[in-house]
Amino acid sequence: MADLAIDGGHPVRKTPLPYGRQCVDEEDIQAMAAVLRSDWLTTGPKVQEFEEAFAAAVGARHAVTVSSGTAALHAAAYALNIGPGDEVIVPAMTFAATANCVVYQGGAPVFADVDRETLLIDPEQVEKKITPRTKAVIAVDYAGQPCDYDRLQELAGRRRIKLVDDACHALGGSYKGRPVGALADLNTFSLHPVKHITTGEGGVITTNDGELAQRMRVFRNHGITSDHRQREAGGGWFYEMVDLGYNYRLTDLQCALGLSQLRKLKPWIARRQDIARRYDRAFAGLKSVRPLNVRPDGSHAYHLYVIALDPDRLRVKRDAVFAALRAEGIGVNVHYIPVHLHPFYRKRFGTGLGTCPVAEAAYERILSLPIFPAMTDRDTEDVVAAVLKVAGAYAA
Ligand SMILES: Cc1ncc(COP(=O)(O)O)c(C=O)c1O
Repeated sequence: MADLAIDGGHPVRKTPLPYGRQCVDEEDIQAMAAVLRSDWLTTGPKVQEFEEAFAAAVGARHAVTVSSGTAALHAAAYALNIGPGDEVIVPAMTFAATANCVVYQGGAPVFADVDRETLLIDPEQVEKKITPRTKAVIAVDYAGQPCDYDRLQELAGRRRIKLVDDACHALGGSYKGRPVGALADLNTFSLHPVKHITTGEGGVITTNDGELAQRMRVFRNHGITSDHRQREAGGGWFYEMVDLGYNYRLTDLQCALGLSQLRKLKPWIARRQDIARRYDRAFAGLKSVRPLNVRPDGSHAYHLYVIALDPDRLRVKRDAVFAALRAEGIGVNVHYIPVHLHPFYRKRFGTGLGTCPVAEAAYERILSLPIFPAMTDRDTEDVVAAVLKVAGAYAA
């Protein structure tokens, strides 16, 4: 550990607790072992099986698997024909991949500021950033909480632009009773180990539009219209590459793991929500630490549990609180540096301080606390104890 705990070396935990971590059980291992004994390690039957199960789980007609959440965003940008001269509005408070996918396609991301209380993209700011070049908006269900999709859909419909939900934080969440995964034209998910379910690396795009789904299936396979298994079944060899695509395929091994993990999604979301409620109760009396607001019209999937520090009620800044919590054995993190402040975006698109002031101010104050289904009650109590200890020691 980098620093001593506040009371001179008596940390709340001796073994550090990460902010997120996968749950893998014997069933998952057996599911992958069965694929290893089968004929198809990739582009076999498990891909379609996982896609069908995933689509059903989120109430969408189609699911297309790809090799990461980033590939899912890239496939979405491709499917929507984003290209040079096009603008796509993205929130400032997200992981860089949300904006990068626009740049991959030669388009320009335009950063919209976020709501102060939830850090979700602010529909009013989106409207202000729309120009004749705007082709799409990518909303991000930051931390696992769905955005205001009624307003975003109304806006997208009125201004004739496409809506993408970067739902990489929100699998298992819902908005007004509708599951995340069918709230936008295209909805993208990540299956990275810190997410709700994992395939190691992996991604999925869901949509009700069969044509877009087919475009993304071709895109993930080099731009080739048929796959190896289809050709084998037809007894032929001929194929054509109709567009420039990538090898973004998810393997059968990964899809078997995904299927096995998906069966556990509901209890895992319930456990994340339990932990969040425990944190909410524990921090309700603290003036220097405030959990982000939760909208009343959705169900939060709690990929992250984010607290905002009140700088007027603490003697130190966020970075000192971060170091103190790490010294207590609590694996806190910061999600995110606003994307427009990264050197690449400053240089290429001329963004900088002032582009999205709400996100910039929030960035100075936020911390993500550990939250994942395998956390024990004791782990949760340790996080609470460490936050109370550090907030108390640094109270202004
Ligand atoms: C909001 C968001 N979008 C996209 C991604 C990219 O997903 P992946 O890491 O699977 O490429 C992430 C990953 O953390 C994310 O948090």
